[in-house]
Amino acid sequence: MDNEELADREWWETTLIYQIWPRGFQDSDGDGEGDLKGIINRLDYITNLGIETICLNPIYVSPLFDSGYDVSNYTDIDPLFGNLSDFDNLMQEVHNRGLKVILDVIPNHSSDQHEWFQLSARNVQPYIDYYIWTNGSIDKNGKNIPPNNWISTYNDENGSAWSWHDKRQQWYYHKFHSSQPDLNLRNEKVIKELMGIFDFWLKRNVDGFRINAVPYFFEDEALRNESFVKKDIYTFGLPESTALLYIFREYIDNWVSRNNATSKLLIAESYDISDDNLLAYYGNNTHKGIAPLNFKFITHIHNNSNATYIKHILEKWLKLLPKNIMTNWVLSNHDNSRAASRIGFNRIDGLHMLSLLLPGQAYTYYGEEIAMLDTKIFWNSTIDPMGCARGINEYKYFSRDPARTPMQWSSKSSAGFSINETTYLPIHLNYINRNVEIQRNRIRSNLKTYKQLVILRKQPVFTDGDYEFVSLNNDRVLVLKRSLKNYPLYFIVINLGLRQEKVNLTSIHANLKNTLNMVVASSNAIRVTGTVPRDNFILTANAAVVLKSNEKQEQTTTESIITTSICF
Ligand code: GLC
Ligand code: MG
Repeated sequence: MDNEELADREWWETTLIYQIWPRGFQDSDGDGEGDLKGIINRLDYITNLGIETICLNPIYVSPLFDSGYDVSNYTDIDPLFGNLSDFDNLMQEVHNRGLKVILDVIPNHSSDQHEWFQLSARNVQPYIDYYIWTNGSIDKNGKNIPPNNWISTYNDENGSAWSWHDKRQQWYYHKFHSSQPDLNLRNEKVIKELMGIFDFWLKRNVDGFRINAVPYFFEDEALRNESFVKKDIYTFGLPESTALLYIFREYIDNWVSRNNATSKLLIAESYDISDDNLLAYYGNNTHKGIAPLNFKFITHIHNNSNATYIKHILEKWLKLLPKNIMTNWVLSNHDNSRAASRIGFNRIDGLHMLSLLLPGQAYTYYGEEIAMLDTKIFWNSTIDPMGCARGINEYKYFSRDPARTPMQWSSKSSAGFSINETTYLPIHLNYINRNVEIQRNRIRSNLKTYKQLVILRKQPVFTDGDYEFVSLNNDRVLVLKRSLKNYPLYFIVINLGLRQEKVNLTSIHANLKNTLNMVVASSNAIRVTGTVPRDNFILTANAAVVLKSNEKQEQTTTESIITTSICF
């Protein structure tokens, strides 16, 4: 691709997104829980990091049983986080700084405390069919039994996804916890309510939405039993879910054009294992869709993944994408072990080189920029229902609390997160040495490397250039080459091995200049600046560098790239 012909892109296609778990980011009122004013107080930090967009996990009114993913009122703020005027202030402050904010919307289920559910349970119109109710059957002892074998992720109610409601004398379906009944998305009135929720927040100037738990939107109407042999087919990934995404996209796009507003970032959460299903989210010839969050790093890359394997996973996904479609890169989030714990604490800088310098959006989960680790949480401090439902012996394999602990700002008490010594989840004991303040004052740190990469990622060669992955040194070294006509060439070189490696890049690119400039180095690399020979430079274990070759890319030298990679 020619730089004169760079595609005209929407702001959100290459934006850098910082995911904030509101309970864990910054407490402003001393109750040990994060809140909106706390986020406002930290906006300068976020701006200074080079972040462009903030993604907020749920802040709506909620019993907070599932940390806000159990909403009892979608159009107000939970008092724990503040109120609507704090929200308006946040939007104002965010927009004043040129940042954007997207909210998490949960169409699949509400809390059982939501007025809709309360009225539905009492058979009040028009709410009777707002949820998925059914009679089930009666066994030979006269006992009510659920209609089928569908199971809940939270494993309460002995694993069944059905709970009996005494008042209504029927079963209701909940894919998640029994306090999170699934909404009946086949009911047009429910869809209208959801559009009303979009309207409400769009009018308050939000810049987009993360759409939660998409594959669970619809269930088989005939309530057929799952066979569980392959994967769930009656409760997961139904085509109706994808179709509903198209409806959301159309509705929001229409809102944007009606209101002459800037286009909105929409992103869909899905751990669907079928790439075909995920690709369908993007849309088709007749419908615009909503990009799926790309969780390949989370679901496929482990601490022992070698270069060929990583190349295979990332390249496979990139090659599947339709031409000119942007993807996104997520290293960690609130539902999984943190990247520094999962893939390697010494590898965070190298991972950021990939997630920030590959084409598309990049997501950073709060604290990832300082390589925050999972916190060990004892049973009596466990609050995640996914952990609690499993009991004392197994909770640690399921609880997501370890990745949701307070942000480590400084070495002060409660890590500068709160003036309260007791915080909603315990703080990692390493906060004394691992925090923003310390990393900001060091010459080299994860934070410093992260910031350099954020500046670099704005170059057109990273947003619009070609890419090529190469595995070297018997799979211990991964190289990502980025190139664009009339721009310097870049090589991201990552040592995944346990030993020091001698790297030779001559096989990767013909006519490479003798020396390359080191533009960014991981905080554990021996050297940070200067030049390195193209055919012999040393990378210590887990170290990673971004090298730049100063010759501009001529048309002729890009030939080999074009055949091996797609053009964005
Ligand atoms: C999504 C959220 C997760 C939540 C679940 C149920 O997967 O990311 O945190 O528990 O939905 O609402
Ligand atoms: Mg559902």
